[in-house]
Amino acid sequence: MESLKLDFRDVLDFVSEDDINKIKQTALNAQNLVLNKNGTGNEFLGWVDYPNQIKEEELNRIIEVSKKIRKESQVLVVIGIGGSYLGAKAALDMLSGYFRKEEIEIIFAGQTISSTYLSELLEYLKNKDFSINVISKSGTTTEPAIAFRLLKKLLIEKYKDKAASRIYATTDPNTGALRKQAIENGYITFDIPSDIGGRYSVLTAVGLLPLAVANIDIKAIIEGAKASREKYIKVGFDDNDALKYASIRNILYKKKKYIELFVSYEPKHRFLSEWLKQLFGESEGKEGKGLFPASLIYSTDLHSVGQFVQDGTKILFETSIKILNSNNELTIEEEKNNGDNLNYLAGMTLDYINTQTYRAVTLAHKAGNVPNISLELLENDAYHFGYIVYFFMLSCAYSGYILGVNPFDQEGVEAYKTNMFKLLGKPGYK
Ligand code: PA5
Repeated sequence: MESLKLDFRDVLDFVSEDDINKIKQTALNAQNLVLNKNGTGNEFLGWVDYPNQIKEEELNRIIEVSKKIRKESQVLVVIGIGGSYLGAKAALDMLSGYFRKEEIEIIFAGQTISSTYLSELLEYLKNKDFSINVISKSGTTTEPAIAFRLLKKLLIEKYKDKAASRIYATTDPNTGALRKQAIENGYITFDIPSDIGGRYSVLTAVGLLPLAVANIDIKAIIEGAKASREKYIKVGFDDNDALKYASIRNILYKKKKYIELFVSYEPKHRFLSEWLKQLFGESEGKEGKGLFPASLIYSTDLHSVGQFVQDGTKILFETSIKILNSNNELTIEEEKNNGDNLNYLAGMTLDYINTQTYRAVTLAHKAGNVPNISLELLENDAYHFGYIVYFFMLSCAYSGYILGVNPFDQEGVEAYKTNMFKLLGKPGYK
C-alpha cells in the first residue's frame, strides 16, 4: 500500500492531457532547480537533504532533553510564530488524542500579541511547574520576543537562579538576539540550520523538541520524511506525484482557479491546513502572483460555507486529504423504533459514511465547477506526518519554481513590520 496516493480523476474535466503535457518540461526544469540547487533562493534548500543528514545523536539528544523537561514540568510553553509554531502545532493536533490528557501539557505562545491570551496564560502558569522552549530562527521576531520577556519574568520569579535551566532556545546556530541571550544566560540550545527557512523547518529541532516532549515518536517522523524524499526527489514526471500535484495546481491557477481549499474530513488536521496555508501562501504569493490558500474541515464547514463552495464565485479548487485507515471502528446499530429514521445506515461504519460523504461532496462540487485533487494518507501516525509534510514542502518548492517565483523568501512580510516599528518608535525606524 502506498503511504500517500494522489488521485486527480476529479480534475480531468478541467485539466486536459494536453495541459499536462505542455507543463511537463517546466515542471522538470523546476525539479532540476531543486536538485542542482541553482534556482533563486537556493541558499535555503537545506531542508531537502536534512532528513538524511540529521544525526542519530542529535535525535537522541532531543529525546534526552525532552525527558528532562517532562520530569521537571507540568507545562511546556512553546514560544514561536509562523514556521516556528505551526509545524509542531500541526503534528501535535494530528497525532494526539482528542480528549486524552498527557502528563505534560504543551501550550503555545508568541503567536499572538493578545493581552488577554498572555495574561490568562501567566495566571494559569502561576501554580504550575513549567519550562519554556523559545523558538525563533532570526531571534528578533517581535511577537515571540514579547511573550518570552513576559514568561521569562514569571519563570525567574518562581525559580530564581534555576530559571535559566528551564529555558530551551531553538535558533540560528550563529546569529540573532536569541542566540546571544542563550550564550549569555547558559540556556540549553538547539540549532536551526542557517540554510533552512522557518516554514521548511518542521523536521528540525523546531518541530522535533516539542513533539518529543509530547511523547511523539520523532524518529518515525524522520523515517517517514526520508521515505517521502526517496519517492519524490529524483523520480521523473510520470511516477512523481509531487511534481504532478505541483503542475496540476499551476494549471488550475492559469485557468483562473485562484483559491486552493485544503480540505480534510478529520478535525485533527485543522492545523495541518494552517501549516499548509503558511507554506504555500508565503512561498508563492509574490510579484502579483500565486494561489490563495484557504482551508476547510468537512463535513463541518459544508454547513457553513459549503453553499459558497458549491454555488459561489468560480475561483476555487479543492485539495482533499483523506486518511485510509482510521483504526477506529464505530458502527451504527439498528434501533427498534427507528425514531430518528437512521435504520437505513444500520451496519455501516462511520468511516464508510465519511468516505461516501467525501465521494458525494466531490461529485457535487465537480458538477458545481469546483475541481478536486485527492490525497489519500495511509495512516494518521508519526511516520505519515513526516511523509506528508515532506511531500508538501517538495511540492511547494517545485510549484513555486513552476510559477516563476522564489519559493524561499518572504519580503512582503516586512511591509507591515516596518510600519509597526515606526509607529512603536523602534530605534532606527523614523
Ligand atoms: O517562514 C518564515 O520564514 C516565517 O514565517 C517565519 O517562520 C516567522 O516569521 C517566524 O520567524 P522567526 O523564526 O525568525 O521568529
